[in-house]
Amino acid sequence: MKICVYPGSFDPVTNGHLDIIHRASRLCDKLIVAVLVNSSKTPVFTLDERVELIKRVVKDLPNVEIESFSGLLIDFMRRKKATVIIKGLRAVSDFEYELQMALLNKTLYPAVETLFMMTSISYSYLSSSSVREIAKHGGNIDELVPECIKEDIVKKFKAQPV
Ligand code: PNS
Repeated sequence: MKICVYPGSFDPVTNGHLDIIHRASRLCDKLIVAVLVNSSKTPVFTLDERVELIKRVVKDLPNVEIESFSGLLIDFMRRKKATVIIKGLRAVSDFEYELQMALLNKTLYPAVETLFMMTSISYSYLSSSSVREIAKHGGNIDELVPECIKEDIVKKFKAQPV
């Protein structure tokens, strides 16, 4: 059984993440979307909110599970008997950091492979931080996040002081 893990902060999940989840789910028996609990960045959405938003957008994908993790990704991978890390690459600027992570993870856990998937061109400009920035200022996020979670994101920022 080929188990792949797609890790991230998902603060919040975007159409770019969803595109990778769809495509990666076709490459493995089980895809675990792993939501990082303790990011050095302070997330806007709580862990429960981030998990719940992803659950809603992947509900039609039977081989996708959502879990959270803290600590090292490779320890989570070992626990789940997963051997492939899925990462999305949007631009050359993502590459250097991702290469470093892939090499460090390989050093810590030699059985692991990091599989880079090129983000679809229409989402190459998209990031959770840009979604947060636009939503915070009342901009239109229709093209950036799945329809079924849009209202939750808009509401979250209405409830927050700017
Ligand atoms: O969505 P993000 O914030 O870019 O995701 C980053 C993530 C969660 C993939 C990365 O920070 C991570 O793997 N964190 C877990 C801690 C870890 O294993 N760090 C060592 C990597 S060498």
